[in-house]
Amino acid sequence: MIETGDFAFENRLVTAQELEEDTGTERGLRPLSLTEYIGQTKVKENLAIYMEAAKRREGALDHVLLYGPPGLGKTTLSAIIAHEMGVNLRITTGPAIERPGDLAAILTNLSPGDVLFIDEIHRLNRAVEEILYPALEDHAIDIVVGKGPSARSLRVDLPEFTLVGATTRAGQLSAPLRDRFGIVQRLELYTPAQLSDIIRRSAQILEIPCTADGAMELARRSRGTPRIANRLLRRVRDFADVIGNGEITQEIAKIALDRLEIDDLGLDSNDRRMLDMIIKGYSGGPVGLETLASALGEEAVTLEDVCEPFLMQLGFLSRTPRGRCATALAYQHLGYPVTQEISSAQLTLDTE
Ligand code: ADE
Repeated sequence: MIETGDFAFENRLVTAQELEEDTGTERGLRPLSLTEYIGQTKVKENLAIYMEAAKRREGALDHVLLYGPPGLGKTTLSAIIAHEMGVNLRITTGPAIERPGDLAAILTNLSPGDVLFIDEIHRLNRAVEEILYPALEDHAIDIVVGKGPSARSLRVDLPEFTLVGATTRAGQLSAPLRDRFGIVQRLELYTPAQLSDIIRRSAQILEIPCTADGAMELARRSRGTPRIANRLLRRVRDFADVIGNGEITQEIAKIALDRLEIDDLGLDSNDRRMLDMIIKGYSGGPVGLETLASALGEEAVTLEDVCEPFLMQLGFLSRTPRGRCATALAYQHLGYPVTQEISSAQLTLDTE
């Protein structure tokens, strides 16, 4: 792996961003119903009620905003919603809709009840967003025909539809857009037990023999993210085929993941580099995100979206008003001594 700038992040095995190699397999592994979908219990329970109510009313489901770290199954949930509501799913992303006309073309081609999924919805541009408001609220869009003094505004009615918006950064959504979602759900990182169930389900579909211990070993090192778990499953299968008898056991999983430089808690070299920089470069913190990003040669958003959720879940990183801090647990994990000074500094910051 090349260890410079964004490149290392984009190519890392444990990135939660969707890679080209994921696309084909991910589709085959996606559950099609809420009952098959593992984890996110609260989100599932709520969606089940909202969908049932919409079906009884014979109307479209209200617009849904799903937010949380990448790779947790936002696209999968939108496909489940469409499947369970018995409607078509149209998938696009914020940056792909460049002009208002692009969105108008998508919206006017929807059938009644359809689900329109817009990933990275925080990246829609302002002009496109403004077309979306009346579409969401009044099921109509205003199209400007002609130019100059003869320009006229034409109102085009749309079928009732459901927008499912997904974002890793709900805070970046404009307030008017956020307010137009009736259902807002946050997806959480998965527990190792849930990931282990997902891995065993995927292994069964892909016909990869995998022991319970092997699945748990992969699960513990998958950063709480099904996309990473499924990717590691495919990589570790290669090791099982070549150095074992094809079955993923705990021993094979350990050997493979060590070779892939993913440590026993799932941290990769970039996570360790980030913690190392805070500990050695900034005496454990606090250090501002931007300062940290430029010291590492990374984008602040990459650190925030990709590294931080998992490091915080592990209790290795804390965000304080004065910046990021490595916790005593992070010192321990990386093999640095935890002095009295670090422990008491942490206590002071935690209570601020
Ligand atoms: N594959 C990816 N995410 C999943 C989930 N939450 N449940 C089942 N299979 C999955």
